[in-house]
Amino acid sequence: MASHSVHLPLITILHHSVIFLVLIKIPSCLSANDAYRNCGNLISCGKITNLGFPFWGKNRTKECGHPLMQLICEKEIGYITIKDVQYRVLEANPDSHTLKITREDYLQDFCQPKHVNTSLDTQLYVYESPYQNLTLSYGCTRSESLPTTVIPCIGEDVYSQIGSLAVVSCKTSVVVPVPLSLVEINDFTKVHQAITEGFVVRWIKECNKCESSGGVCSIEGSSQQTTCYCRDGPCPNLSPDIKTSSGTSEFIEN
Ligand SMILES: *[C@@H]1O[C@H](CO)[C@@H](O)[C@H](O)[C@H]1NC(C)=O
Ligand SMILES: *[C@@H]1O[C@H](CO)[C@@H](O)[C@H](O)[C@H]1NC(C)=O
Ligand SMILES: *[C@@H]1O[C@H](CO)[C@@H](O)[C@H](O)[C@H]1NC(C)=O
Repeated sequence: MASHSVHLPLITILHHSVIFLVLIKIPSCLSANDAYRNCGNLISCGKITNLGFPFWGKNRTKECGHPLMQLICEKEIGYITIKDVQYRVLEANPDSHTLKITREDYLQDFCQPKHVNTSLDTQLYVYESPYQNLTLSYGCTRSESLPTTVIPCIGEDVYSQIGSLAVVSCKTSVVVPVPLSLVEINDFTKVHQAITEGFVVRWIKECNKCESSGGVCSIEGSSQQTTCYCRDGPCPNLSPDIKTSSGTSEFIEN
């Protein structure tokens, strides 16, 4: 009888510590494994194939990319949003980290764009190809000093000019990047074509070292740091945001 009174509490303690271990261990294991498994999924959508970090969307959950780099896929067309402007993704090249994009509002209706300038989030994208700014001005009062009329929209004319200086006598103006080859800015067909053919941007966030070692990148929480996950869990030495050497040691290397 005495032996029972010794063994029972021991079993109870073991029992409790197993529950304790289960509660503590499993969630952290799952999140590392989830990141590894889930962020290994790549996005395919129409002409877009195998797009991974820093994008998320479809079966890549939010932590598999940058919060502002969601790719939405609708009817086999991919869309991204940069600074409140929605773009249709015409081409994606994961190897060169480039996307060819065009403003969706201009594809829908040239006369009624969102009246928001085209500007890149410079933390995330840069222009890859040379371009020039074209300013389209809306709601203008007719005057002789106005630049060339592009298209008579219902109730108002739209004026175009190269550069990003707004026309004073117009209500709003919208700057759009167009290829350097566009010279005939008074020819509606050419202007329309130049805008809708889009422009190429390159994304900055990378995960090269991690991916080439078989890992996947994930961005979690408020730190917005990119963490590399390998099969067995985080492998911080492969994470792009973590500097393994300081600026001074880089000088020594060179
Ligand atoms: C994720 O989506 C891709 C393409 O749509 C598909 O090939 C892949 O099987 C999906 N993976 C999972 C885990 O659902
Ligand atoms: C677009 O940019 C031009 C010049 O940079 C500015 O004058 C104009 O007000 C801007 N348009 C909008 C809609 O913000
Ligand atoms: C286009 O305009 C933006 C401001 O609206 C400016 O920052 C940029 O340098 C311009 N690009 C070119 C090629 O002129």
